[in-house]
Amino acid sequence: MGGMQARKIKEGIYWVGGIDWSLRLFHGYSTPRGTTYNAYLVVGEKKTALIDTVKSYLSEELLERVSSVIDLAKLDYLVCNHVEMDHSGAIPRVLERAPNATVVTCANGEKGLREHFHRDFRFQQVKTGDKLDLGGKTLSFVTTPMVHWPDNMVCYLPEDRLLFSNDSFGQHYASPERFDDELPLHLVVEEAQKYFGNIVLCFLPMVAKALEAVSGLDIDMIAPSHGLIWRSHVRTILEHYKRWTSNQPEERAIVVYDTMWDSTAKMARAISGAFENRGVPAKLYDLKESHISEIMTDVVVSRYICVGSPTLNNSILPTVASFLTYLRSLSPKKRVGLAFGSYGWGGQSIEQVNGYLKDCGFDLLEPVKAKYVPDAETLHAITAQVEKALAGLAAPKPIAIVAPSA
Ligand code: FEO
Repeated sequence: MGGMQARKIKEGIYWVGGIDWSLRLFHGYSTPRGTTYNAYLVVGEKKTALIDTVKSYLSEELLERVSSVIDLAKLDYLVCNHVEMDHSGAIPRVLERAPNATVVTCANGEKGLREHFHRDFRFQQVKTGDKLDLGGKTLSFVTTPMVHWPDNMVCYLPEDRLLFSNDSFGQHYASPERFDDELPLHLVVEEAQKYFGNIVLCFLPMVAKALEAVSGLDIDMIAPSHGLIWRSHVRTILEHYKRWTSNQPEERAIVVYDTMWDSTAKMARAISGAFENRGVPAKLYDLKESHISEIMTDVVVSRYICVGSPTLNNSILPTVASFLTYLRSLSPKKRVGLAFGSYGWGGQSIEQVNGYLKDCGFDLLEPVKAKYVPDAETLHAITAQVEKALAGLAAPKPIAIVAPSA
């Protein structure tokens, strides 16, 4: 013993990843719980395969964990399911220690790895339907382009009913626990929902295709490349993904704003009251206090997106611009938007916010404006106006959720 150890997740299959305890920002995505980069070692009767690696700074942690199970020099395959460097960063270092390993990836994967590392690894290209026989353990590949890069693929191990899903079903969650049933489920699902909202929301047609591709598989365990491994709640996470991908948000509202002298904040509370009066749960987010990526967790499930900014220099506050730019890029669909804000003279911010919401393709409610400081009567009128507008909206159609088998 000694050194960092692998953790067995099934007979002959080990978690050998790295834990990024201190990460608090992942290219613009707040990660208050840190993250993990999950790599897996599959030991067959004839061959061994390492599935994905870790961020380069955690290379030695990965190597120690792999070495606790096998002699690295004898590693046969290094499967690259995704070129992004949180999973590929340690490939050059692994290959220094495992010079006989062949890099198994799809055509886009090979292209991407060449463009990242500018060197000639020994490649074996695979496509959907291809299999790699390790002896009693078979890796079966499914390419899932644009979930969320062109090179993404997943692999399925039928003998163990195990799906190595890479980014899909992942969560940014650093913990000593490895499985979904070792932590409160709602925390794991919340992080998975946040991950969905920030990473894959803008690729929904491709996510639906990927879900379709794995829908025929008999899955007993999902091993993603971030966070906890799904073993007790496989059906739950598949149902959530199906629901989030369906683009049929729930009757929920978020009211997102920044404020200069509390006038737009007062309006936000009045608007939230309208939802409350209609029995629609609403959450308020002050952009001075809330990170934009945190708000995306609720965007995934909320039909109503209300955004407020006072007018500053004929424009909107930078915090609001940041949120709206991010929201537009992640392109949630089938939402209802409402722009609001207070102003002194120009009042341009409200139309500008409305323009962003229009660009998002949302159905729009009549924007709400208030001059300087809204009094109690004005705030009551705002609540009444929004309540009336909500009453005039058509109810969303109910949907049937059919999850892939698990
Ligand atoms: Fe976890 Fe797209 O990398």
